[in-house]
Amino acid sequence: MANIIGAVTTSHIPAIANAMANKAEETPYWKPFFDGYPPVRQWLNEKKPDVIVLFYNDHGLEFFIDKKPTFAIGVADEYHNSDEGWGIATIPPVTGESELSWHIANSLVDDGFDMTICQEMKVDHGLTVPLSLMWPGNNYSHVKVIPVCINCEQYPMPQPKRCYALGRAIGKAIESYDSDMKVAIFGTGGLSHQLDGEGAGTLNRKFDLECMDKLVECPEELTKYSNLDLVKIGGAQTVELNMWIAMRGVLRGKVTELHRNYHAPISNTGAGLLLLEHEMPKAE
Ligand code: DHB
Ligand code: FE
Repeated sequence: MANIIGAVTTSHIPAIANAMANKAEETPYWKPFFDGYPPVRQWLNEKKPDVIVLFYNDHGLEFFIDKKPTFAIGVADEYHNSDEGWGIATIPPVTGESELSWHIANSLVDDGFDMTICQEMKVDHGLTVPLSLMWPGNNYSHVKVIPVCINCEQYPMPQPKRCYALGRAIGKAIESYDSDMKVAIFGTGGLSHQLDGEGAGTLNRKFDLECMDKLVECPEELTKYSNLDLVKIGGAQTVELNMWIAMRGVLRGKVTELHRNYHAPISNTGAGLLLLEHEMPKAE
């Protein structure tokens, strides 16, 4: 049984990569955001997960609006990033974990999640910015990454309840994998935000903080929302909360919050950070 040691949730906005490249972490705008990260980096460096299962959404690099898998999983040995037009540097290749990826993909399809299975997959800022944030200098070559992509851009999108169930099914697959490898789960994006249209700039701090509490204590409460509820409460792209909900679905054992940070607005978003430790459930 592979060991799920914990989870991290973080914003993934491209401006973070530029702030790091421009050494702006200590400026008044960015400091309250970046000050949250050292404890999470330290935890990752101490615990040394072998694999990260990373929930993100692709904003148009690999899956444009002409083809939009509801759920996709990478099964490659390596993933590449390329220019998305945000002016951020492309990052070095990300190492995959193809054997565990295939194990999860097989288990998910058997469990009724009809995944798009990607033997080749470009990964966008939803995946790359969190890696750059956790391992400054893009010093992540020792860790393997399994990308799990959730459609948060184009209707119809999977509902929070379904994303939680996807996480649960991935947790089951990891638990049934015969290995002593250490796995950490990342949920990226969010929290409340709307980037365009009449409501551009909408966010909801109170809701974001409530979500962070519920994510730790009672995640099933969050599955009562529909995507439309999320849009009305926090703005159109609040649907990215689904990646956090999927992350939490993976964690079936005891969850302890080790660290959190919240700061808004950062590039028009409510930017939340959570570090959760996870104890595997006792064998049944
Ligand atoms: C931005 C991009 C995102 O993908 C996101 O989720 C929030 C903000 C941005 O460019 O500001
Ligand atoms: Fe996004």
